[in-house]
Amino acid sequence: MKRPLRTLAYRHRWFYDAVSAISALSVGGPERLRQLAPAMLASRLPVGAPVLDLCCGGGEGAIALARLGLRVCGLDVAPRALDQARERARRCGLTVQWIEGLAEDPPLAPCSQAGITIALALHEFSAAERRAVLAACTRLLQPGGWLALVDLHPARGVMALPQQLFCALFETETAIDFLASDLSVELEQAGLAVVQRERLAGGALQRLLAQKPPLAEPHPPE
Ligand SMILES: C[S@@+](CC[C@H](N)C(=O)[O-])C[C@H]1O[C@@H](n2cnc3c(N)ncnc32)[C@H](O)[C@@H]1O
Repeated sequence: MKRPLRTLAYRHRWFYDAVSAISALSVGGPERLRQLAPAMLASRLPVGAPVLDLCCGGGEGAIALARLGLRVCGLDVAPRALDQARERARRCGLTVQWIEGLAEDPPLAPCSQAGITIALALHEFSAAERRAVLAACTRLLQPGGWLALVDLHPARGVMALPQQLFCALFETETAIDFLASDLSVELEQAGLAVVQRERLAGGALQRLLAQKPPLAEPHPPE
């Protein structure tokens, strides 16, 4: 089911930006929110490493990755979001490759990425679609490559009510299903090892770092 406010938010970017800005206050504002996933890759990857921001939206996360000196592709299904991303990168004087495509089947070579980020997007996919997206990440990552994820987490305490309200107004059944799922288990099922898991924003967000297993060292001849 489509929530009317969500349709409005996607049609009118200013509305989406305003809602995201309010939601981001709990982690220090929109810029800090967009840096949560890139920051996880920063210390793990050398300058120039190829990284992909899946479901890049207006490009804020991809641009944060490019500022770290990484070689960045941003992929999204929405041409309008990609236009905004392109314009934002141009204004910042940064080079990012923008690709229109499906996160479930990105048109990129297997083992081509040292890192992948997915921020605030997985909750928009059904369980079957999430499996396809995570399988695509495993396929695209180089052995030893990293996947950084930021997304909703079932909040408790003071954040529970605002989150329920937010979901009721903006989100679909996929978000409700996502909140009931265990992302760590889904990552492990996709063949990735979860190495870090944090809760942020009073428990309303989760941030995970997972790794594709490195290639086994060849045994020295006996
Ligand atoms: C809530 S926005 C998040 C955007 C961005 N990652 C951020 O942090 O602001 C979700 C994005 O996922 C994109 N998206 C949804 N389904 C997709 C799919 N199947 N393949 C690629 N992108 C998709 C939407 O177009 C939208 O830009």
